[in-house]
Amino acid sequence: MNKLTTQVAIIGGGPSGMLLGQLLHKRGIANVVLERASAEHVLKRIRAGILETGFAELMREAGVAARMEAEGLVHDGFAISCNGATTRIDLKTLTRGRTVLCYGQTEISKDLMDAREAAGLPTYYEAANVALHDVQGKQPHVTFEHRGEQYTLKCDYIAGCDGYHGVSRQSIPASVRTEHERIYPVGWLGVLSDTPPVSDELIYCRSARGFALASMRSHVRSRYYIDVPLSHTVDQWSDAAFWDELKLRLPREAARTLVTGPSIEKSIAPLRSFVCEPMQYGHLFLVGDAAHIVPPTGAKGLNLAASDVATLYQILQRVYRDGDLACISQYSEIALRRVWHAERFSWWMTRLLHNLDERGPNDRSGDSGRRFVESELTYLLESKAGQTLLAEQYVGLPYESVRASQPMLRETEKAKLA
Ligand code: APR
Ligand code: PHB
Repeated sequence: MNKLTTQVAIIGGGPSGMLLGQLLHKRGIANVVLERASAEHVLKRIRAGILETGFAELMREAGVAARMEAEGLVHDGFAISCNGATTRIDLKTLTRGRTVLCYGQTEISKDLMDAREAAGLPTYYEAANVALHDVQGKQPHVTFEHRGEQYTLKCDYIAGCDGYHGVSRQSIPASVRTEHERIYPVGWLGVLSDTPPVSDELIYCRSARGFALASMRSHVRSRYYIDVPLSHTVDQWSDAAFWDELKLRLPREAARTLVTGPSIEKSIAPLRSFVCEPMQYGHLFLVGDAAHIVPPTGAKGLNLAASDVATLYQILQRVYRDGDLACISQYSEIALRRVWHAERFSWWMTRLLHNLDERGPNDRSGDSGRRFVESELTYLLESKAGQTLLAEQYVGLPYESVRASQPMLRETEKAKLA
């Protein structure tokens, strides 16, 4: 048995775990990352690519923003098309100057992994049978296997950054946990292609045939999505069938100018809303997808992971710099407030842009569900207040600050009086 010790054990080397690790390292807080997959596998996953300012600032704070700043595309707005009529949401004007950055999650992961390697920080890829112990007690530790050897990692705290299918959430007893889950009847079929994007800005489309999104990774790489029934598989969708269907859902001008090409990645992602409460148990903190999933409409998944990281980073700094151990109890409350806002926004955007049949078996409401949603969407798009509502949430709500715990305040007061 190999024995290791650290301050923070990080389970999972996705964006949450790697960003947290890098930030803690910058503040002299030791951490070890345990990742089940290989580094190559982590880098193969194609995910979203719209970053809120808060995310970009954390990357800067972590000292890993150089490539993101050089290659990321600043987006001042995006478009929503409803049955062919397109409205631009001018993020910058509606939010007093705020914008989003288009930079793929795969690139973020690469930058964070490279920085971690360059700093020589301990990372165990292909760590198997990771198990959390004494999370609630005095000696939290993690056991795992690596290259046929057994390890025990003693730590002060555990950051569960291991995504929806990880072990961390399961380490909170079921009697303590409440899970809220909503499954949608559609998935997003996504295609990545080395073709110039059809527009400089994203276009979210609602149409009678279903949802479509025109997105991008760079000036020469596009990412497009259409929604498909959950029963569909990728094999059912040839590239030609995908492009044909996409054109039928895009606004006419975009369909006319769309440049198609061979797909370099094609996958279907189911849509889900999920929240686990609380997000903390003893010395364990759940971060990112381990605690919550949003449907991708509105691009909140990665950004929500970043706000959890920001909260935990503030807390761990207070713990190690100020000895404020009590402040850890604020984590779940602060993180969940922002999580629920983003969950609600993502659910709402999803409803507005997809044809989700919400009728019951004996329902006589006919087509009224669809009409209500179309009426809501057109109203929002025609109203400055409606556009502002969309814009403020799209660029991201502010991060909340962690408060010093009461005994800490008393110490400060004492110091002031002395
Ligand atoms: N032990 C160790 N690592 C694990 C385990 C385990 N038992 N289970 C899962 N992991 C790893 C996965 O292999 C993955 O690399 O944890 C990582 C979790 O990464 P993500 O799923 O990407 O989650 P997260 O880092 O929270 O990223 C935020 O928000 O909406 C999404 O697309 C967005 O993936 C992004 C996520
Ligand atoms: C993407 O580019 O993959 C993307 C962009 C915006 C979304 C979802 C996904 O809302």
